[in-house]
Amino acid sequence: MTGVPIIAAKTPAKVELEEGKRYFWCQCGRSKSQPFCDGSHKGLDIEPISFIAEKTGAAFLCQCKASGKAPFCDGTHTRLDDLNPGDPVPDTRQSD
Ligand code: FES
Repeated sequence: MTGVPIIAAKTPAKVELEEGKRYFWCQCGRSKSQPFCDGSHKGLDIEPISFIAEKTGAAFLCQCKASGKAPFCDGTHTRLDDLNPGDPVPDTRQSD
C-alpha cells in the first residue's frame, strides 16, 4: 500500500447532510476540504469513502481517520493521546 492515512484533526466535523445525497468522506487525511474529499489522495492507494446520507440534519464526521464507524465519529479521537494532526493514523480501528 502506498501511503497511510494521516490525522487531519482530533475533533469531528459537524456538518449538515441532506437525505439521499451522496458524499465522499476523506479517508487519507490530506484533503483541504475536511471532512470531505478534494482529490488529495491522488497517487496514494487510499480512496475516499462514498456514502449516502440517510437523513437530513447535523452529523459529526470523523477527521482523525481512526474511527471504527467511518465516516462517522465514534469517539476514537479521544484515545489518540500524544498524536497530532499530520501524524500517521495508528491502528486503533474497531471492528464493530
Ligand atoms: S474524529 Fe472522532 S473518531 Fe475520528
